[in-house]
Amino acid sequence: MLRRHALWTRHLLTLTCALGALAWAGCGDDDDGGDGDDTTVETDTGADTTPSVPTTWDEAVASGQQGAYMSGVVVPAMKDKFQEFDSAGFETFNCSTCHGSGASVGSFSMPNAELPPLGPADFAGTDAVHVFMQTEVVPTMAGLLGMDTFDPSTGEGFGCLGCHTSE
Ligand code: HEC
Ligand code: HEC
Repeated sequence: MLRRHALWTRHLLTLTCALGALAWAGCGDDDDGGDGDDTTVETDTGADTTPSVPTTWDEAVASGQQGAYMSGVVVPAMKDKFQEFDSAGFETFNCSTCHGSGASVGSFSMPNAELPPLGPADFAGTDAVHVFMQTEVVPTMAGLLGMDTFDPSTGEGFGCLGCHTSE
């Protein structure tokens, strides 16, 4: 069941990327070129071929459309946050900003070991990036996933280790 789910997700992502709808969001490498699908002649307005974007993460998971939700909802919202924090550093913001190199081969499992691993000093960090992560990234991402933010007293919720590994 799970395996079938993952396979379908991957399928959908490939399809969505091939449609070019996500070109801006970076489906893998910039140079992957479009796979020769360009010869397909589309004569309609495209209105009924636009993939529908799930409105919640739960809905995305239930329908196997995690990638569509990420590109349609998560990326735009998080891109705004990261660019507000550091417009030059996050001028390029796409799937691989969070998912690392896995994004270009359709591997989106989290946490992403390519992000800096975090230790106790990070969880208590008070410099700009730590404050940004704590007050903007975690709450926004948790909200987008329909989760509560991490509560150390219960160990439940979405926190730093939803994206980073621990050192
Ligand atoms: C701001 C960070 C961020 C960005 C940018 C991002 N994601 Fe995600 N993504 C996550 C997190 C966090 C999860 C794990 C959600 C969970 O806890 O189930 C996730 C999960 C996923 C999953 C489900 C993986 C699984 O194993 O169930 C897919 C598929 C996915 N993302 C695809 C994408 C695609 C495609 C893009 C770009 C269009 C993208 N993501 C951009 C943070 C991000
Ligand atoms: C939604 C995913 C996500 C969550 C949740 C998250 N981070 Fe991050 N974090 C990132 C991304 C993306 C980067 C940028 C990596 C890069 O520079 O490309 C980053 C970078 C960092 C850095 C490195 C800054 C630098 O350039 O040296 C630190 C430190 C950090 N995060 C701490 C935290 C802490 C502490 C938490 C929890 C309060 C947290 N992060 C939660 C995605 C996340």
